[in-house]
Amino acid sequence: MTSTRVLTGITTSGTPHLGNYVGAIRPALAASRNPGVESFYFLADYHALVKVTEPARVQRSTLEIAAAWLACGLDPQQVWFYRQSDIPEIPELTWLLTCIAGKGLLNRAHAYKAAVDRNRGEGEDDDAGINAGLFMYPVLMAADILLFNANKVPVGRDQVQHIEMARDFAQRFNHLYGEPAGKEHFVLPEAVIEEQVATLPGLDGRKMSKSYDNTIPLFAPREQLKRLIFSIVTDSRMPGEVKDTEGSALFQLYQAFASAQETSAMRQAFAEGIGWGDAKQKLFERIDAEVAPLRERYEALIAHPETIEQQLRDGAKRLRERYATARLQALREAVGLRDLGARVQAATATKASSAPLAVFKQYREADGKFYFKLVEGERVLLQSIGFDSPKDAGARVGVLKRGAFDEADADVMIGDGVTPEDVHAALAALLAAEAAKA
Ligand code: TRP
Repeated sequence: MTSTRVLTGITTSGTPHLGNYVGAIRPALAASRNPGVESFYFLADYHALVKVTEPARVQRSTLEIAAAWLACGLDPQQVWFYRQSDIPEIPELTWLLTCIAGKGLLNRAHAYKAAVDRNRGEGEDDDAGINAGLFMYPVLMAADILLFNANKVPVGRDQVQHIEMARDFAQRFNHLYGEPAGKEHFVLPEAVIEEQVATLPGLDGRKMSKSYDNTIPLFAPREQLKRLIFSIVTDSRMPGEVKDTEGSALFQLYQAFASAQETSAMRQAFAEGIGWGDAKQKLFERIDAEVAPLRERYEALIAHPETIEQQLRDGAKRLRERYATARLQALREAVGLRDLGARVQAATATKASSAPLAVFKQYREADGKFYFKLVEGERVLLQSIGFDSPKDAGARVGVLKRGAFDEADADVMIGDGVTPEDVHAALAALLAAEAAKA
């Protein structure tokens, strides 16, 4: 049976809050119950090191996040649940990908660019205070995803660019090391953005986020939960005055936990001028009703960290046996980290022998003009404009065959999903094949 692989990672740098629950944990666990889905949820503790240099915080956060997912109903026998740092194949693959990742592409990663822009704004050196982990973050993330050939990756909007980069690295790797039989090493992953899961507002009405210090911890004790909910910012309207649901953090929070029916009753209450105190009490009760049983399980789990440790290790062990170890072995082979005694593909295993060669195809269209394209299997790498004579078209092909390609040339266009590097690589392979024949 073919199943869709859904994979997501959670950086272990903080305490799980209601925003994580509504935006990630709850929808992920619901989706994992769909038939035909193989789910991978992991604790991205290597990613945490990019931002956190407090060891105790990394440890505590890893424990809390693991316990939160388990308390919310994750069954480690039904889904893959593991800790990134328990899978040594992930950092190994990170290096293989590092060696094909374009540095220019990484320069354009949002998180890195934002840090550079901040430095510039402050008149600092571009890279002041930036560690190389931040720069390499997208490559590590690509390794997380590609090692398991995940098809779908549920993420927030801010992570979409990282998935696009993972696709880029996968394509490049497939292109450079694709197998002769046409079987490619990596599946191209797709980002899944949960459009209907509204981002939850925090205490101050902005998006609930650790960086705004406006979160409500998912497993805050009942009294603290109540206190935090009563501190949510509202306007100064008095009881009896009509309240807007639009733009009300309180209303949005309520909606995230309530049924459609409860939500419309609350809408009605806003219209009838419910007092903020009463609305907060209702919100508190609604959230607590959902969270209280989870909190009880969470507390029982977190009292036995050694059991969680065992579950994570067991998950990683099974996952390595099932996929990771063999996968990485195949990838090592592909790039040439090989048994020296295995001679079969020894010295000749170059790009030219391992990927299908591209070919130029010349043809005439109904408009009477002469065209050519460069195709590699099914993929169109280049498409020319129409030339007046076959000689003109042929001369143009001749120039390209000598490897002289410039993406700025106006008479040839790059195909969809093709990068200038792909074209250069294909032309270089053609040249190499010609040279080998001569
Ligand atoms: N970068 C992600 C975040 O901060 C976490 C993450 C790490 C991740 N590796 C991943 C998410 C792989 C999806 C897939 O949210």
